[in-house]
Amino acid sequence: MRWPDILFRQGFGTRHECLGLLAGGRVRHGGAVVQDAQAEVATDGLQFEVDGLVWPWREPAVLLLHKPAGYECSRVPRDHPGVLSLLPAPLQRRGVQPVGRLDADTTGLLVLTDDGALIHRLTHPKRKVAKVYVATTRHPVDEAAAAALCAGVVLHDDPAPVRAAACEVLDAHTLRLTLTDGRYHQVKRMVAAVANRCEALHRERFGPWSLPADLPPGHWRWAEPAALS
Ligand code: URA
Repeated sequence: MRWPDILFRQGFGTRHECLGLLAGGRVRHGGAVVQDAQAEVATDGLQFEVDGLVWPWREPAVLLLHKPAGYECSRVPRDHPGVLSLLPAPLQRRGVQPVGRLDADTTGLLVLTDDGALIHRLTHPKRKVAKVYVATTRHPVDEAAAAALCAGVVLHDDPAPVRAAACEVLDAHTLRLTLTDGRYHQVKRMVAAVANRCEALHRERFGPWSLPADLPPGHWRWAEPAALS
């Protein structure tokens, strides 16, 4: 692929802007400024720099963000900054979107991608992709509450019970829940259904990806494309 297409496909601007970056000597590869913008380059394993920003060729883009509290996942954020503002401009331009949503006050793993088919696969109810949350509760929790959440609780807008695929009491005020469906405010409403209240909520895992232990809040990294059966 030629350099203007590489830059364009990776989100560095319009084709015209990408040509400008090349003409301005702002793109480096293998330690040197790219001189021949029309050279054919293999994208497999390619890494380059634009204005000093090191960029690996990734298509599609799949990333893991440690979402801090106080950020919204909605396309048009209203009350808080949007999670996309935590990403560099090339990823924003590529139309990367969160896979599912976390509430503004929920922290933890958010997967984002520009691959619409992947979003569909990961969010389709039939796929039952597991999400693991740690909920801090206002009142003490016990094994009976965990058992009730696994047996199924009724939320006020739907008579069909919703179940946690797994629920573990981590300590007197902490539950780890695995959900395979994704209703609105599901964890908070399930915790409320066992006469408790969720004071804090953190997602540890989404499908095949876990929140990396060394990824601080507000930071992101590329996800290795995981095998999704
Ligand atoms: N369940 C909730 O209640 N909130 C979230 O952010 C995610 C799951």
